[in-house]
Amino acid sequence: MTDPKNFRIKSFGCQMNVYDGERMAELLAAKGMKQAADGEDADLVVLNTCHIREKAAEKAYSDIGRLKREDGSRPMVALAGCVAQAEGEVAQQRSKAIDIVVGPQAYHRLPELVGEAASGKRPVDTDMPAISKFDAMPARTRVGPSAFLTVAEGCDKFCTYCVVPYTRGAEISRPWSDIVAEAQSLTERGAREITLLGQNVSAWRGEDEKGREGGLELLIRRLARIDGLERIRYTTSHPADMDEGLIAAHGEVEKLMPYLHLPVQAGSDRILKAMNRHHTAESYLKLIERFRAARPDLAISGDFIVGFPGETDAEFEETLAIVDAVGYASAYSFKYSPRPGTPAAEMEDQVSTHVMDERLQRLQARLAEHSLAFNRSKIGQIFPILIDRRGKKPGQMIGKSPWLQSVFVESDAAIGDMVEVTIEQALPNSLGGRLREMVDA
Ligand code: 5AD
Ligand code: SF4
Repeated sequence: MTDPKNFRIKSFGCQMNVYDGERMAELLAAKGMKQAADGEDADLVVLNTCHIREKAAEKAYSDIGRLKREDGSRPMVALAGCVAQAEGEVAQQRSKAIDIVVGPQAYHRLPELVGEAASGKRPVDTDMPAISKFDAMPARTRVGPSAFLTVAEGCDKFCTYCVVPYTRGAEISRPWSDIVAEAQSLTERGAREITLLGQNVSAWRGEDEKGREGGLELLIRRLARIDGLERIRYTTSHPADMDEGLIAAHGEVEKLMPYLHLPVQAGSDRILKAMNRHHTAESYLKLIERFRAARPDLAISGDFIVGFPGETDAEFEETLAIVDAVGYASAYSFKYSPRPGTPAAEMEDQVSTHVMDERLQRLQARLAEHSLAFNRSKIGQIFPILIDRRGKKPGQMIGKSPWLQSVFVESDAAIGDMVEVTIEQALPNSLGGRLREMVDA
């Protein structure tokens, strides 16, 4: 295999993988490689994979099969992300087409590993080194109007269904000064919105320039002082780590958007305990109440799992009850998927696929009712949206509302513009608006 000249990166799964994909692209570009254009053949394909559910993990392997070219040759393939971390060299035994295996904590070494693969080796790097990969990476170059910024990685919560503590490792917080510098550099390069990322972002701790220790609230208040940065978001939070300061920030920091992704997973206390969630349905609802007291228009979003081992019909009804009690603006819901090495995979009473399908359908129908109701509540309102992509129809642009809804609008605005719209239409997953004025281009 020769040295690759161009590359393509395909990211699956969560927003952190999107962020990691961008960083890997920056690393390869810094070594003189070019990103392959759409439809162009790439010499190197990086599959940045997700291991959270079985379906996501299997997708990596089915994608590899499709990389073979008509003449029988294939590109150099790097398996990156959480499947790489979980499977290590076993991945290369499963598929001969995998030249490189690189875990989420080792991808700063990707250019080096590409060199090794070009000289005929099949390198595997799933180390979780003490020295942060972030220190070994070039400055940010790939920036859109809305940018991701990883501030914390890994998770120490050990929910019994979840692979993240094993694939992403122990919880670490990036240092304050690195985060502030990266946010500044993203803003200088055109980002107007930054989403702070962490598998458990609410557990972020650090020290500011004066040596004061604090949590995510302190960081958000500092980032809000960056000129040109207009919107701050963060995700994903754990209900057991939300403190008074962060709640207060939602009422006080104007740039902090009125949106909170706070997964609850299930509504039954027995199931929450078996999941090792460290909260009850009631403590979760009380927490939401406190957030809403600080910011009454807050949009709440959540994650749900149906069919956790042992979940009865009555316990599933409690999930529907918590959905009604919160009135989620948006949500992600999944069928439980047993993951190798997690405690829940060994539990008795695994729920049948048929029952899970039925529960998921009912849950999703209920969630859709709530998001439609939330979206309808915006009809007639006027607010700014940040344009982030083109619509399918000519002259149509799509932007994000403060509550993270996609808003369709006829406008000659460009990507990155903030425009003010009047909302005229609500669908379950989007809003339709009419342009009022350009706030500023
Ligand atoms: N099965 C199904 N869903 C899962 N999630 C995490 N692990 C599993 C699993 N084993 C869901 C949770 C989490 C989201 C990122 O994925 O809802 O919040
Ligand atoms: Fe998938 Fe979780 Fe890894 Fe993200 S952190 S890529 S969601 S397994």
